[in-house]
Amino acid sequence: MKYVIEGGNKVFGKVEIQSAKNSVLSLISASVLSSEEVFIENCPNIYDVECMLKIIKKLGARVKWADGGIYIDPTKINSTCICDKLSKKIRASLFLVGPLLGKFGAVTINQTGGCDIGSRPLDIHIDALEKLGASVEAYDDCLYFHADKLKGNFVRLKYPSVGATENAMMCATLSCGVSVIENCAKEPEVVDLQRFLNKMGAKIQGAGTSCIRIEGVKCLHGCSFKPIPDRIETGTFMLLVATLGGELEINGIKPENILFLAEKLRNNACKISLYNDIIYIRVNNNLKGLGEIVTAPYPGFPTDLQPLACACALSCDEETVIKETIFENRFKYAEELLKLNANLEISGNTLRARKSELVGSTVYAPDLRGGASLCIAGLYAEGVTVVENAEVVERGYENFDKKLKSIGAKIIKKK
Ligand code: UD1
Repeated sequence: MKYVIEGGNKVFGKVEIQSAKNSVLSLISASVLSSEEVFIENCPNIYDVECMLKIIKKLGARVKWADGGIYIDPTKINSTCICDKLSKKIRASLFLVGPLLGKFGAVTINQTGGCDIGSRPLDIHIDALEKLGASVEAYDDCLYFHADKLKGNFVRLKYPSVGATENAMMCATLSCGVSVIENCAKEPEVVDLQRFLNKMGAKIQGAGTSCIRIEGVKCLHGCSFKPIPDRIETGTFMLLVATLGGELEINGIKPENILFLAEKLRNNACKISLYNDIIYIRVNNNLKGLGEIVTAPYPGFPTDLQPLACACALSCDEETVIKETIFENRFKYAEELLKLNANLEISGNTLRARKSELVGSTVYAPDLRGGASLCIAGLYAEGVTVVENAEVVERGYENFDKKLKSIGAKIIKKK
């Protein structure tokens, strides 16, 4: 599938932000811990969510889309093996390890999966789960985790990995005794997971800080839950209007999760007003520059917005320097941007982006956010840009082309 994009237009109008992809994926995983049906409200219908649902269905869960969300009944789960083609496609399948281990005492999983943005090892997940009482064995392409009895323990993560923090939380939820996890990821999606687990009867506190305390409980009950809005989608539309110019009303957002970006843009040529769950952005002139961007765990600049910030930097008057410190292979999209005549220099983990006269061409979307970055660049470029392999963009953005069209962008999806 490809997007055919005609550049050169400003954007005007309103967009509605979906629920956070990264939150929903861990909530789907956490739902297998429940002893009753759960409902996740306002769920984005995107490839990664579909994929996770297929995986839990294969395990025996019943899943139904209705009322704008998904009902998950995990009570008939009768398998703990997620070692197949499907789970290789999605890194978040790894988030099922903690809950399946916690509930059933065993799980088998592929060693790899997800966007190709770096080596993405599993050592921190494994360390944390071993501390909670699990043993792990590797065979073929799979890892087999098992535990006779999981016991609360002190776990210090060597790096604040989002997935490892969430896996440890979910695994410890039904274990015996108290667990304390230190050096946790503080991302808003971790806080959302705590809210969800506690709504089902878990006893967890501290998410959003670097120390999370979990008091094990015997079982979890069902609940209905509304996930937080997607801060990466919010940031994508903010950077889109900052690049192209125009005026957008972005609805259904959580301002505190995108303040860092609002401040960066506000000091530039963007007029920004923030309300309860709305951000208005008006952009009449070119931005000065985005300064220095260094990706870092929350509350630092999110690595997932780095490719989008780079596309925006190509429209700015001054040079922007971007340092990627989280994933070692996250500049593949930048090589594609060069085909559009981008004024870019890549050296190790640092990228320098300067004002560019972009010209349409055919480019290949290497991964989800890199693909979205190419779309923004295509919308800024003169002439027609074809973004091939555009299905990777739909892993994370619901109705990306439709939302863009509704605000005046010229984009057509073709098979
Ligand atoms: C999650 C997000 C992803 C985001 C990333 C960082 C989901 C579904 N995905 O991915 O969109 O880009 O957080 O904000 O929520 N690492 C290890 N060993 C491990 C685990 C991780 O070395 O066992 C390293 C990774 O290679 C990477 C860094 O830690 O360099 C951060 O990864 P992590 O926070 O775990 O990312 P994910 O949870 O996979």
